[in-house]
Amino acid sequence: MADAPDILILAAGCGTRMKSRLPKVLHLLQGKPLIQHVLEHVAPLAGGRLGVVVGFGEKEVRDLVGKISPRAFFIRQSKQQGTGHAVSCAEKSGFGSSKNLMILAGDAPFLMWSTLTELIKKHRTTSADVSILSARVQDPKGYGRVVRTRNGQVTRIREELDANDKERRIQEINSGAYIFNRKLLFETLRKIEAENKKREYYLTDTVEVLAAAGKKVQAYALASEEEVMGINSRKDLILAHERLNQKTIDGLLERGVTVLSPRNTFIAPDVKVGADTVIYPFSYIESRVIIGKGCHVGPFAFIRDGSRIEDGARIGSFVEVVRSRIGKRTMVKHLSYVGDSLVGDEVNIGAGTITANYDGKEKHKTVIEDGAFIGSNTVLVAPVKVGKRAKTGAGSVVLASKNVLEGTTVVGIPARTLRSGRLRKS
Ligand code: UD1
Ligand code: CA
Repeated sequence: MADAPDILILAAGCGTRMKSRLPKVLHLLQGKPLIQHVLEHVAPLAGGRLGVVVGFGEKEVRDLVGKISPRAFFIRQSKQQGTGHAVSCAEKSGFGSSKNLMILAGDAPFLMWSTLTELIKKHRTTSADVSILSARVQDPKGYGRVVRTRNGQVTRIREELDANDKERRIQEINSGAYIFNRKLLFETLRKIEAENKKREYYLTDTVEVLAAAGKKVQAYALASEEEVMGINSRKDLILAHERLNQKTIDGLLERGVTVLSPRNTFIAPDVKVGADTVIYPFSYIESRVIIGKGCHVGPFAFIRDGSRIEDGARIGSFVEVVRSRIGKRTMVKHLSYVGDSLVGDEVNIGAGTITANYDGKEKHKTVIEDGAFIGSNTVLVAPVKVGKRAKTGAGSVVLASKNVLEGTTVVGIPARTLRSGRLRKS
């Protein structure tokens, strides 16, 4: 769009309430830093320039943002003197050339691009000077309140710490996302003072100055309570995590997957699961995992990044699977570690089996072919291959590169051939 607003993300704060050495916007929500959620949500809005105000943990934040959005322009706020001060730093750095400037907080990971698009549209069609994205919520605690006159005119945003009892009861809150007429905003920022409980320059104070000067100030309650959530503390982070997880699991339930105890199961948002699969409690399923139809997973299963579980497989209790494929109708039912492995169809992996994939320097692959039977407590030292329908005896240790040929049975430490596949055939 020709007049797409530049976007400014405020991410310089240290996040005192997190009580952490890590900058708040780098804390992980479902394995992804908070600011990455924000960047991904604004990516489809691309058009204008993207600025990020950094300060606390500047280098780490820059490194991450630079990787995700190489076009980002960084603005340094050396001392964090408030959101208004952060925007002044952007002005001083020469950021922004569009008529309108969209401002977002780096700690609000749920704001959807569709909501922001709607805000941009409203701002344009009403030719407003400021459009504030607000939300009507049950519990406004911790947020700035949108104060309106009796006939609905926005007069100011009042931060909770500075609010009186009446203002505290207001349930319309400021999401921390806005579109301002850029020039007007920069002029107005020069007029605000840090006369509040926190002794900070509040961006939200510009609203009162602009409204008093007769400028067109609008607030739109377009966002849902979940969407506006800002993460300020560890407790907020956990709540956000639970909400996302519940949403993921709801989606799976709708697609015919049973998740027996959603509160005690973690499933990353991009995990794909086929119908009629049952996921038992206390299972933890990471990003990019694909699970087929009719599988059983858990209880207490840990399926890690990028693994693939084919139709009808069983992954049981205290089993960890990482970077591996588990074939159709294969059973790995108890106490096993399967890493960097390619496991065929209808394999049985006995309790306590370990693929020893790491030699202290590198990781190696294990291949277990269709129909193989791995005895309880086998150690397969990678790189190694177990052929079709081959067997290992309970407690055997198959050394690296000592491949077990098709149909062969090996036993012992180190494993030796008990019965060769070729003999059996003759
Ligand atoms: C802010 C809003 C509040 C709103 C809420 C929504 C102000 C004064 N208040 O409050 O009305 O309801 O967000 O979540 O704006 N930051 C900087 N530099 C600073 C201070 C903050 O870059 O000097 C960044 C932070 O890193 C953060 C964002 O600005 O990403 C918001 O700051 P935060 O301190 O979390 O503001 P809230 O108290 O949540
Ligand atoms: Ca916040």
